Amino acid sequence: MASSTISPSSPAKSKLIVFDTTLRDGEQSPGVTLNTEEKIEIARQLSRLGVDIIEAGFPVASPGDFNAVQRIAREVGGLMEGRDGLEPMVICGLARSVKKDIQTAYDAVKDAPRHRIHVFLATSDIHLEFKLKISRDECKARIREMVGFAKSLCADIEFSPEDAGRSDRAFLCEALAVAIEAGATTLNIPDTVGYNTPHEYGALIAHLKQNTPGADSVIFSTHCHNDLGLATANTLAGISNGARQVEVTINGIGERAGNTSLEEVVMNIHTHPDTYPVHHTINTRLLFSTSRMVEDLSGMVVQANKAIVGRNAFLHESGIHQDGVLKNKTTYEIIRPEDVGVTTGNLALGKHSGRHAFKTKLEELGYGGAALSDAQFQTAFAKFKDLADSKKAGVTDGDMHALVADIRSTSLSGPASAQPDDATAEESVSEEPAAVQYTLKQLHVFTGVNVMPTATVTLHDAHRGVDLTDVAVAKNGPIEATYSAIQRIIGRDIELLNFTVSATSVGQDTQGKVSVRIAQSGSSSSSVVSSATASPKPEEQLLTSYGAVPKFSGVACNVDIITASAKAYLTAVNRMVSHDSADNRASHKQRNVEI
Ligand code: KIV
Ligand code: ZN
Repeated sequence: MASSTISPSSPAKSKLIVFDTTLRDGEQSPGVTLNTEEKIEIARQLSRLGVDIIEAGFPVASPGDFNAVQRIAREVGGLMEGRDGLEPMVICGLARSVKKDIQTAYDAVKDAPRHRIHVFLATSDIHLEFKLKISRDECKARIREMVGFAKSLCADIEFSPEDAGRSDRAFLCEALAVAIEAGATTLNIPDTVGYNTPHEYGALIAHLKQNTPGADSVIFSTHCHNDLGLATANTLAGISNGARQVEVTINGIGERAGNTSLEEVVMNIHTHPDTYPVHHTINTRLLFSTSRMVEDLSGMVVQANKAIVGRNAFLHESGIHQDGVLKNKTTYEIIRPEDVGVTTGNLALGKHSGRHAFKTKLEELGYGGAALSDAQFQTAFAKFKDLADSKKAGVTDGDMHALVADIRSTSLSGPASAQPDDATAEESVSEEPAAVQYTLKQLHVFTGVNVMPTATVTLHDAHRGVDLTDVAVAKNGPIEATYSAIQRIIGRDIELLNFTVSATSVGQDTQGKVSVRIAQSGSSSSSVVSSATASPKPEEQLLTSYGAVPKFSGVACNVDIITASAKAYLTAVNRMVSHDSADNRASHKQRNVEI
């Protein structure tokens, strides 16, 4: 890890613990459902990035969630790639203040070399009265019992008083003191609804540190939501007032307007080393590639003007600015783009570039080490050569990012993490990548003005060893026609939940990068169905959006956007088909057990 990418460590500075909750709070973003393979891929990247703790999920929410957290604990918990000088990443599971949740969270994370249980219970009067329907005394009693129970299983316990930002301060101090007595080692202070101002949130952290009995023995943590656009400012105010852990997500994804964004907090500390009394151990050069990975896999497109990782974050449009930057970069740049993994002005690769140049470029863009497997690298290189042949002006960094997204998307397989609610964690299906069933053999699209768009599609079905062709006419354009033809060939009704197309570079020979997210038709409306019973206990009502129906994503890039659209769709379709056959294997296995 290059030392220039890490904020200077000095005895006067405390280490800031970066707790990433992209896979838990981030996954609660409307429309986002990551499957297990995608979660593992993101967890690996977060480990390389130097994150200290990840909240890998909410294990009790569904067998799929349990399985994903357990696999992350087992497969990522011990990884040391890119973590020179660091310990293995702590794997954390979330639990409500309910014994079953806590036990399930512990079972999911316990195989990681370093693990944590995160227990939460609301403390604001609004939540106590209307959601939990319990008194303040009952709230404290439950914290004592449940944090104590968690402590009997695991040494590292985090407690969160949900809606702390609107809780009565005196009561909050009492509740936190109980959590400390019961064994909590980290106290996380959520501004659950993104209500606080930076001044107020900073003062809250300072107050709690000063007035909670036992506060000296624990770490205080921030957890801010972005409803008023203040999540990063509030988090930084928390740090200035004594918080030493921050809970963040990549790209700031999360419930409603999202959570605090990891990259913004880290780069604020990086840019103002004298302002904040902390140092971090994040490899900032991996921020951009990590952001792209989360964007691609979550389907949550990063706004172009987003700080640090937006496409425009380092572009200078006006002549005056361009002139200044050419004379001296610091005239208009406060962050060196390369410090966050953005390369500017570098020569594009061309058709004469060999493997070595290709690999070096990948490394420069944050895809070094084990970011791509050997097989993925070989496929990427072959695709790069094809692309370089067609792009006379050269393959740009944007093309390279899109190429990696395409390769990863095609090779990520396996069922979605949201598995049928009646499967137990132990019965969850095996997730070895299944062979791709459908490949695009031919696509002919007829479209234009005052014509009915028509698509003729031929797919090769590898399972049956046949080519299948269909023609579809659609009034809403060539993509609808193409997708209809594919649905007819494979005999499924598919709902398109998300479709985005973006250019990978500028110029007429740019590629289109298409991301899609699909679900079996008629199933998406149930994606917010609670897994609780018809009249759930108040504390069981939270499980909305968890255990959701499987959704499948695909990414592809091509100079022809209709081809990219067809390929991205097919990637998602193959994953859906592979998930369903894995489900069949699981129910078959279950029947065998019964027999
Ligand atoms: O925002 C919140 O309160 C949370 C808790 C579960 C920590 O995400
Ligand atoms: Zn939250």
